[in-house]
Amino acid sequence: MNVLVVGSGGREHALVRKLRESPRVDRIFCAPGNGGISLDAECVDLRDFAELAEFAKKNDAFTVVGPDDALADGIAEAFAGLPIFAPTKRAAIIEYSKSYSKALMKKYNIPTAAYEVFDNYADALAYARKSAHPLVVKADGLALGKGVTVCQNLKQSEDALKEAMLDKKFGDSGDTVVIEEFLTGREVSVLAFCDGKTIVPMASAQDHKQVFDGNQGANTGGMGTISPSPYYTDEMAKTCFSEIFEPTLKALAAEGREFVGVLFFGLMITADGVKVIEYNARFGDPETQVVLLRLKTDLFDILEACVFGTLDKIKIEWEDNAAACVILASGGYPQAYKKGYEISELSHVPNVFHAGTIVRDGKIFTNGGRVLGVAGVGDTLEKAVSAAYEGVSKIHFEGVHYRKDIGKV
Ligand code: AMP
Ligand code: GLY
Repeated sequence: MNVLVVGSGGREHALVRKLRESPRVDRIFCAPGNGGISLDAECVDLRDFAELAEFAKKNDAFTVVGPDDALADGIAEAFAGLPIFAPTKRAAIIEYSKSYSKALMKKYNIPTAAYEVFDNYADALAYARKSAHPLVVKADGLALGKGVTVCQNLKQSEDALKEAMLDKKFGDSGDTVVIEEFLTGREVSVLAFCDGKTIVPMASAQDHKQVFDGNQGANTGGMGTISPSPYYTDEMAKTCFSEIFEPTLKALAAEGREFVGVLFFGLMITADGVKVIEYNARFGDPETQVVLLRLKTDLFDILEACVFGTLDKIKIEWEDNAAACVILASGGYPQAYKKGYEISELSHVPNVFHAGTIVRDGKIFTNGGRVLGVAGVGDTLEKAVSAAYEGVSKIHFEGVHYRKDIGKV
């Protein structure tokens, strides 16, 4: 079978690489892809859903979707009748509306931070003024991972509410806000395969969201990941399965929003048990890069089982090892940065996933904020982290910035 991967980041490069390992996969297309992906897949410059569906049909391709906005815009519906690994827009609401996901958790007793929802600035402000801080202000809709502000004091809450609700920094996504209790603890990402009825969690991962070492500076799309999370025990995994993962899938089904695809649980291990911080309706980036490196089972078999509702028939196995991924970013990211710098020879470095690159005359140039993800695998987390940094040490481009403490904080 042929496969069409939709998206253009490091996550999609990791999906392409893993799917290439499957003896059942013939040609791999990626739309639109990026410079590095074009070395592993046939990139096609299509973005319109009707054109993508037409392409998939003509090329007899099974489609796998990466990005959240495609799901929120209804790509699954546009592919009606064709095999596509993606939740419907109805089901993806669990990511693109935080107020929906909070109400779902409340209704079905799924542990999460206490919260209130506001669509009126004056009421939101009044609530923030009478609340203890820190407090978390979240734009309801998609905001490129930047819609959440952890406010240490009232001034910060006031600013966050003004930016979201009055200045419309996130467009319509901030018309409604969720104001949430601040939780403390270790964060864990657990992605899970779903076929609507059955949910199978993948190996756990830990993201490093802030741009600088020691978890300092602005939040980014993710500066590096490790898998597994050293803080997520087998016992926690069991409790999460029965109290969070399965109840979420069942709740969605009960609400007429049967979920097929990847449910991504952003969890906080608090003193009071594990709680959900957020849901995503897709593979994480850069979680996917580390998690898929540890997957033993044929990924294509799993994705197909999700789409055809037979996930309960398949045994999913993981390597008993660890993986780490360090993101090489453009200087200045997540604020303004320059593009177009040549990247040194990469072909001798294993496990490099391209996020923002372009190929010109056989040479590779930077073309985004997050440029490359350099991963390593080892028997232990320490060995995986060393292997990733060994790769990093061999790569250079002007202005390159990366964290030196992935897997160490
Ligand atoms: P999100 O986009 O929802 O993943 O939020 C981005 C980041 O904000 C999370 O990874 C957490 O570090 C932080 N965050 C979100 N909600 C909370 C909360 N209720 N308490 C503490 N930190 C939070
Ligand atoms: N790494 C977090 C995300 O994909 O949303």
